[in-house]
Amino acid sequence: MSNTIAVIPGDGIGPEIMTATLRVLDALDCGLKYDFVDAGMVALDKHGDLLPKATLDKIAEHKVALKGPLTTPIGGGFTSVNVTLRRHFDLYANVRPAVSFPGTKSRYENIDIITVRENTEGAYRSEGQTLSEDGEIAESVARNTRKGSSRIVRYAFELAVKKGRKKVTAVHKANILKTSSGLFLNVAREIAKDYPQIEFNEMIVDNTCMQLVMRPEQFDVIVTTNLFGDILSDLCAGLVGGLGLAPGDNIGEHAAIFEAVHGSAPDIAGKGIANPCALLLAAADMLDHLDMVAKGDKLRQAIRDTMTNDRDSVTPDIGGKGSTDSFADAIVKRVKG
Ligand code: NAI
Ligand code: MG
Repeated sequence: MSNTIAVIPGDGIGPEIMTATLRVLDALDCGLKYDFVDAGMVALDKHGDLLPKATLDKIAEHKVALKGPLTTPIGGGFTSVNVTLRRHFDLYANVRPAVSFPGTKSRYENIDIITVRENTEGAYRSEGQTLSEDGEIAESVARNTRKGSSRIVRYAFELAVKKGRKKVTAVHKANILKTSSGLFLNVAREIAKDYPQIEFNEMIVDNTCMQLVMRPEQFDVIVTTNLFGDILSDLCAGLVGGLGLAPGDNIGEHAAIFEAVHGSAPDIAGKGIANPCALLLAAADMLDHLDMVAKGDKLRQAIRDTMTNDRDSVTPDIGGKGSTDSFADAIVKRVKG
């Protein structure tokens, strides 16, 4: 894999947290080169296009992108750039780790859950959504395929093996959604047989919500369809203290895009107080993807150490008095040490 990555600084707080993140990556000595490309409002202003072709070409060329949050303009019929990127590169796996960090306002301390969400089909196909002419009847067709279900379930098991995880839980609603969720569950049961070393269990989505809140320690890797994964992964982010610490990896066969789950935070943009951790954790996942697992782990540990021992340097959203820069400085010091 090439050592050049496409970098999209993004809108709002994007450039601030991206600068901090690249500074930390440089301090880690990963040997990465950055090819900066535009998307979002910056691209609309400069090139008259939210997602210029040159940006797509660069991502295709480098196969890996680190992406800041993008503002989706309201009105004017703009499609979300994020959705377009997922479709264009067929980024079928949305991987969202939720890990407890010290000093957050979370109710729990030992959570380490990875949600693997199917990112391309299910209830989120725009083609399946219709409204009758009189506006009285709305229909939404969920479509899951054997191919789509197989590749996401296999991805989850392979991830579990690679990361030394013990259990995969398939979350579904096959008791009611007998065809769409049923197909997914059947495929999950079949594929689980190929991984006897990993415990497999299945859970209905409503019960999963309750179990996640009451006994989150029982979960390890969750694999599920698009809509359930969207909701459950935010629930998991809430269990560990919110979006400031939530990375989101979008993985396909030919490209992968790593980003923070949060948006461009216009309310705090330019103030220098954005928490860079979600993007840093996405960068750590990117290092894993680039076969630099030791560097990824070092980065995660440096974030953890900073949050435990350097409370003054962390940003206000997690109870500190620091800034984006002071937080990044403290992490840089630790990855160098
Ligand atoms: P948001 O995630 O930008 O902000 C929600 C709240 O969380 C705000 O109070 C914000 O200050 C805070 N926050 C978010 N990230 C933070 C960080 N790193 N450090 C400290 N505080 C942080 O969500 P919102 O306001 O709904 O969306 C703003 C814009 O972002 C919209 O245009 C939306 O479309 C876009 N967006 C883009 C995403 C992406 O590119 N992946 C994802 C979500 C939203
Ligand atoms: Mg969501």
